[in-house]
Amino acid sequence: MTDFTVEAHHNPTSAERIAQILQDPGFGTHFTDHTAVIDWTAEAGWHNHRVEAYGPISMDPAAAVLHYAQEVFEGMKAYRHDDGSIYTFRPHANAARMNRSAQRMALPQLDEQVFIQSLEQLVAADKQWVPDGEGEALYLRPFMFATEAFLGVRPAKEISYRVIASPAGNYFGGELKPVRIWVSREFNRSAPGGTGAAKTGGNYAGSLLPQQQAAEQGCDQVLFLDPLHDNAIEELGGMNVFLVTNDGRLLTPALTGTILEGITRSSVIQLAQDRGLTVEERRITLQEWERGVDEGTITEVFACGTAAVITPIGELVDGEKTIASTGTGEVTQAIRDELLGIQTGTVEDRHGWLHRL
Ligand code: PLP
Ligand code: COI
Repeated sequence: MTDFTVEAHHNPTSAERIAQILQDPGFGTHFTDHTAVIDWTAEAGWHNHRVEAYGPISMDPAAAVLHYAQEVFEGMKAYRHDDGSIYTFRPHANAARMNRSAQRMALPQLDEQVFIQSLEQLVAADKQWVPDGEGEALYLRPFMFATEAFLGVRPAKEISYRVIASPAGNYFGGELKPVRIWVSREFNRSAPGGTGAAKTGGNYAGSLLPQQQAAEQGCDQVLFLDPLHDNAIEELGGMNVFLVTNDGRLLTPALTGTILEGITRSSVIQLAQDRGLTVEERRITLQEWERGVDEGTITEVFACGTAAVITPIGELVDGEKTIASTGTGEVTQAIRDELLGIQTGTVEDRHGWLHRL
């Protein structure tokens, strides 16, 4: 165990204001009172583990992250169970993925136990911010970035790790409803040998213009295609994708190094297999999607991720063409209910995925 010092907030948010925020948390707009912080230098390694009041960060204008985007982040949630206890989901998987992302971005490795402790410490300080409404949770955002003031291009020798938290409802706003997806023909998200498998800011910065194009076409998210072949699907700007067939198979793009290895994706694969469904991780072309929907062999399509949970995909817009799919299908609904049930403590956690905070 590493000791975190805990600095209490001098002017915490009132219980009334928290209750008001939790009535309609939205996504990513309200932040809790505290942040967990750990510093790193090449000389001293990780040190100064602490929980402090949430607030602006003072950084040198030459800090490497502001110029060369040396940073990684994670996304996870804390769920309140009926008895008031709070759990997070598969935190070791997030810790391991952050370290893989960190390795790709030449950032230091953080011990998995310390990563988990940072979540525990932050949630202990901000317990009252964990919502308990249907589909709601406290979104946890661990991130690591280069603070060293130096304009030469090399891995920074001073790094900061932080966790912030934000109460969250439906990522797409309002009630759960099927979303519309825009196929990006002009832009790719990543390429072989690039940073697509790392959860690093640049991947998201590059997705903003295509996401903006998607929004202009009345779509909620952008779908990226395989950069080499241009007709196989990869993933959405912030979610993985599954197709469900009429003969009990789930199809999802294989992990080829260009997409993010989603923890929801891996959980969906397990839950689907537990139900006797066959999961195929492979190359899936847009033509297969379109033909399958036309012929009735693909009956459901959904997006999944920590923020999005499991969200049905209603329509796929490819230029002038719109490929319709079904609304919220039975398999999508059943897997969503089971996953959310495990996370919120109403369905048995048979895989030992929960971690009490
Ligand atoms: N793909 C991208 C690009 C993402 O940003 C995310 C969200 O974290 C995912 C997939 C889903 O990953 P996870 O299920 O671990 O949240
Ligand atoms: C997450 O699901 O945690 C993400 O990071 C995706 C982002 C769209 C919020």
